[in-house]
Amino acid sequence: MTTILGIESTAHTFGIGIVKNGKVLANVRSAYTTDKGGIIPMDSARHHEQKKYEVYEEALKQAGVKEGAADAIAFSQGPGLAPCLLVGMKFTKEIAEKLDVPIVPVNHCIAHLEIGKITGAKDPVMLYASGANTQIIAYASGKYRIFGETLDIGVGNFIDTFARYAGIGFPGGPKMQEMAVKGKNFVELPYKVKGMDVAFSGMLTNLRQKLESGKYSVEDLAYSLQEVVFSMLVETSERALAHTGKKELLLGGGVGCNTRLQEMCRIMCKEREAKFFVPSNDLLMDNGAMIAFLGEIMFKAGIKEKPGKIDIKPRQRTDEVEVSWKN
Ligand code: ATP
Ligand code: FE2
Repeated sequence: MTTILGIESTAHTFGIGIVKNGKVLANVRSAYTTDKGGIIPMDSARHHEQKKYEVYEEALKQAGVKEGAADAIAFSQGPGLAPCLLVGMKFTKEIAEKLDVPIVPVNHCIAHLEIGKITGAKDPVMLYASGANTQIIAYASGKYRIFGETLDIGVGNFIDTFARYAGIGFPGGPKMQEMAVKGKNFVELPYKVKGMDVAFSGMLTNLRQKLESGKYSVEDLAYSLQEVVFSMLVETSERALAHTGKKELLLGGGVGCNTRLQEMCRIMCKEREAKFFVPSNDLLMDNGAMIAFLGEIMFKAGIKEKPGKIDIKPRQRTDEVEVSWKN
């Protein structure tokens, strides 16, 4: 029996999850939000600092375990915002030293993908659609290979930035989804796909101009934006399925909560007789359970460090990580 506590703090969310033998016992999160404007790293770090003990206590309570039950502490080492990552790392060291247990450093992006296995997916093509990242990934010979990705900004940041132009606070994604449902007229927007890569910044400029012209409603723009952007993601995911010959698509990352994106993925998979998998929203958004989940797999493969040996990796890339825990 292994019990792992996982700590997430890369950006807007401070989360702690507790996983025991692949089962999520607790998943508690506190997210930094704004009424207007985007995420300010130092403010978000302050939020994490203020909430850490509360989230920790709540997670232990939810799991119904005592503090000493953890065999190791897993933490999100990167990529992410340095001030936010530091709060998580310091807290990890504090708890690990107090309990005298080892630390498992986890890559945030791979955790978003690995938690998808909880849905039953075995060897999927993964569409990782989150704030800072948009990548089409598949596992091949020892690494998570990136088949396609955004050439500029992540899809979540793109939607959040447009929302900010429209006077909506952070995160903008969920509110844009509500507005999109009310949109009636499709507005033509630039569609940018190159092979398995996508790009959003041209569309963002175009949307800003359309918004400022006052000729279009935010609802129509939100609706059109979703249709065009998600078509780009579905097209590149389909190309990766065709290229790799894989038969499963797994959606991961916060933008994966969007029900229209889920619907479009489902339709594409049905048409090409592939299976579609998507975890529940609490496992799609940044959360500690996904860190504990991957932490447990790594811990069982013998990956563990002493508190003095760990550091944050704000710019760590998915395909840099040696996946030594998989066979
Ligand atoms: P990364 O994993 O790349 O570091 P992140 O940690 O910032 O990014 P996640 O928590 O995985 O991000 O995702 C947050 C993003 O998800 C935000 O940009 C948010 O607007 C977006 N999002 C959440 N719900 C929805 C939704 N229903 N529709 C569209 N976007 C959404
Ligand atoms: Fe994330």
